[in-house]
Amino acid sequence: MAKPKTKILVIDDDPKVAWILKEGLESKFNFVSARDGIEGLQMVSTEKPNLILLDIKMPGMNGIEVLEKLNKMEKRPDVIMVSGQGDTNSVVDSIKLGAAEFINKPFDLQEIEIHINSVLERNTLKQEVEELKSELEIKSGWSNFIGDSQAMQKVKDIIEQVSDSELTVLIRGESGTGKEIAARSLHQLSSRSDKPFVKVNCAAIPRDLLEAELFGYNKGAFTGAHRDKQGRFELAHTGTMFLDEIGDMPLELQSKLLQVLEQQEFVRVGGNNTIHVDTRIICATNRNLEQGIVDKSFRDDLFYRLNEITLLLPSLRERPEDIALLADYFIEKYNKLYGKEFQALSGDIMSALTIFSWPGNVRQLENMIKQVVVRGDESIINDLINSAGAIPANTSQPVAVGAGVGYGAVSPYFEGEQTFSLKKRIGKTVAEEEKRLISEVLTRTNWNRRRAAEMLEISYRSLLYKIKDYNLNSVK
Ligand SMILES: Nc1ncnc2c1ncn2[C@@H]1O[C@H](COP(=O)(O)OP(=O)(O)OP(=O)(O)O)[C@@H](O)[C@H]1O
Ligand SMILES: [Mg+2]
Repeated sequence: MAKPKTKILVIDDDPKVAWILKEGLESKFNFVSARDGIEGLQMVSTEKPNLILLDIKMPGMNGIEVLEKLNKMEKRPDVIMVSGQGDTNSVVDSIKLGAAEFINKPFDLQEIEIHINSVLERNTLKQEVEELKSELEIKSGWSNFIGDSQAMQKVKDIIEQVSDSELTVLIRGESGTGKEIAARSLHQLSSRSDKPFVKVNCAAIPRDLLEAELFGYNKGAFTGAHRDKQGRFELAHTGTMFLDEIGDMPLELQSKLLQVLEQQEFVRVGGNNTIHVDTRIICATNRNLEQGIVDKSFRDDLFYRLNEITLLLPSLRERPEDIALLADYFIEKYNKLYGKEFQALSGDIMSALTIFSWPGNVRQLENMIKQVVVRGDESIINDLINSAGAIPANTSQPVAVGAGVGYGAVSPYFEGEQTFSLKKRIGKTVAEEEKRLISEVLTRTNWNRRRAAEMLEISYRSLLYKIKDYNLNSVK
């Protein structure tokens, strides 16, 4: 489809002006015209022009007055002033009022076209910047941290409560549960949000380089240190430092980190001066740090200092209610990214996603949906689930401590299973097993009894009887 032509409103008491413009430039722009300021202002609302050519000298309301009125509008088109001889003062006034350009009468058509195009180009650029800005603003809110389940609501509540405090937060949870998003949200919701957020992945940087990376070095500190260099802690001054995979921090650096936490100061590698920093520290790990303390690979004093608040992110299998929401979010994300138009997933595929055990959590779901969108074929989910089901689930279950939300691990009973049919799963019905299965399916479906009955492959009525018989209660 051809792009609609730019609409230009000409406000001039001399009808010749609009006529000349139409004659000369009608193939490029769409002109509408008004003979005075009042009519012009009305047409701004009715015609919604992209640009206004505004004569300064007009009987009744002059161009400057029109511009003042336009400025009172919430959003107005750009204005090019058309001035005659001797209008110097008015030109200065209109600069102050924010006119985009000036053209002197009598004008040359080619010159006027150049002026119009330059204003339009600037406008497009401005729009692009605004779009980018609002995209960033949305990103900085909750809009990219998806989850409505009770478990996620609790996580978001804790983030909101502690974001603006100076408490050190330790974020725990299995791989792919969103620890990094949680850290960024903590920063975004704090009063440091317009200051730097600096991330260091302690597992990704070789041990012998980590100290220089974190704390910087002075010239001559080691071979190759040809000049002084700031470390990441200095870059994070006034902002937030996110130490990812803190469980991998070498023991010898842990005491230096403790000093930063306790005194907000440190010395660069090879340096003599003490450097002070004001930085809020957030850490994340999927390791069992308590075990590290027992093994003497993690300092207990550091653990307690880092752990003023623990934020434990639930695994995806603990919040199956969020799967549909996340799937829709990723479909939209990758449709946009790859210019695709994949619609929604079918009910069958959604059921398969709901009962899968998700060893790789949200990251695994995101990758699956990405492939579905790119290939435009949802049936690949079955193959992906089958092959992933063969991989054992993440075994590094975090331990719930502190202010964490305290989720228990889901029983291994469900790992990799694809059916909840009582007959297929249990063979002969053992009451205890039956009760356990029903109660897990009810939790997974967020107590949607119809869905649970379908998954269990029993009738709705018989599920209701069983709920009563086994005395199962929704905790919601
Ligand atoms: N709640 C969520 N909403 C939207 N996207 C999410 C959510 N949780 C995780 N993701 C996405 O899943 C991927 C993994 O998330 P993230 O990197 O935060 O996980 P992690 O817990 O830090 O994992 P690891 O321990 O492996 O580093 C990212 O692409 C992230 O955008
Ligand atoms: Mg991470």
